[in-house]
Amino acid sequence: MNSQVSPLPPRCSQPQPQQPQPQQPQPQQPQPQQPQPQRNKQQVAQQFSRAAHSYDQAATIQQQAIEQLIQRMPNQLGGHWLDIGCGTGAAFDPLLKRGVEHLSGVDLAEGMLQFINLQQASHWHRQPITTVLADADELPFNNNSCDGIFSSLMLQWSEHPQRTLSEWQRVVKPGGLIAIATLLPGTHQQMRDAWQQIDQRPHVNRFTPRQQLLTVCQQLQLDIVSEQQQCLTEHYPSLTDLLRGLKAIGATNVNTGRKSGLGGRAALQQLNQMYPRTQTGQLPLSYQVYWLLLRKPALAF
Ligand SMILES: C[S@@+](CC[C@H](N)C(=O)[O-])C[C@H]1O[C@@H](n2cnc3c(N)ncnc32)[C@H](O)[C@@H]1O
Repeated sequence: MNSQVSPLPPRCSQPQPQQPQPQQPQPQQPQPQQPQPQRNKQQVAQQFSRAAHSYDQAATIQQQAIEQLIQRMPNQLGGHWLDIGCGTGAAFDPLLKRGVEHLSGVDLAEGMLQFINLQQASHWHRQPITTVLADADELPFNNNSCDGIFSSLMLQWSEHPQRTLSEWQRVVKPGGLIAIATLLPGTHQQMRDAWQQIDQRPHVNRFTPRQQLLTVCQQLQLDIVSEQQQCLTEHYPSLTDLLRGLKAIGATNVNTGRKSGLGGRAALQQLNQMYPRTQTGQLPLSYQVYWLLLRKPALAF
């Protein structure tokens, strides 16, 4: 296993009804970019670096997202693949099992890559894996240089999915696959609704709508091989456990306008009162997971 530092700056348990079959979105004029609050990438990297050691134990939904994404991919992959936002490398084994010959695990969080290199080195010893510290928006790879891209639960951290996907489209070879799991609006809705009854600040990250992602794919001339959305819900015995679970996977709010911390004991007591419970007194937390398989069209001769 090798590591590289880029020269660039630096679980609704009820399945949702199936989305209609893959469809090409209707042509649309590019929308003028809405002014977006800035997400601080350094802060994102720091919070994931801090979570590296606790991530795997808490990442149940994340593990399901990877498994379902792998199931949607062809059985035989081969060639050089990037796992972008690879985290602790949870997708490395299944990708290697599918025949990936060289895997580059790319992540912005140095702590995640250190975890892979130090903790997991013996597990992946002699495997064709390279870890690369880089930003998904500025990949240190040549145009048309990799056979495929895999990315599970990273794209929702991108403030400009168009820029991110255009970078992925640049590095993948014609005919190559881009396999994505991401989160859609509705994710953490219980938390959003509960906070809205307390104050108007953004306590939950924003998520790009499905149609906006499909429009970007169309603008980038990426073919949609398949898409599916499912709501996955995990349940916690208490608010403290829920907040600990989020912290353990590095999923804290990075929107501008957020309060630092959660707003103190009084706000947490209010949140506890407002947060919905199941009949058995559990606190549900939902994820709208979206699996999207794209192909860069092969060159026409
Ligand atoms: C929710 S974790 C997912 C990790 C892994 N793919 C999994 O499913 O277990 C998101 C990962 O994306 C990384 N990430 C976030 N923004 C990134 C960016 N702009 N470039 C590269 N990695 C990024 C984070 O550091 C984190 O490791």
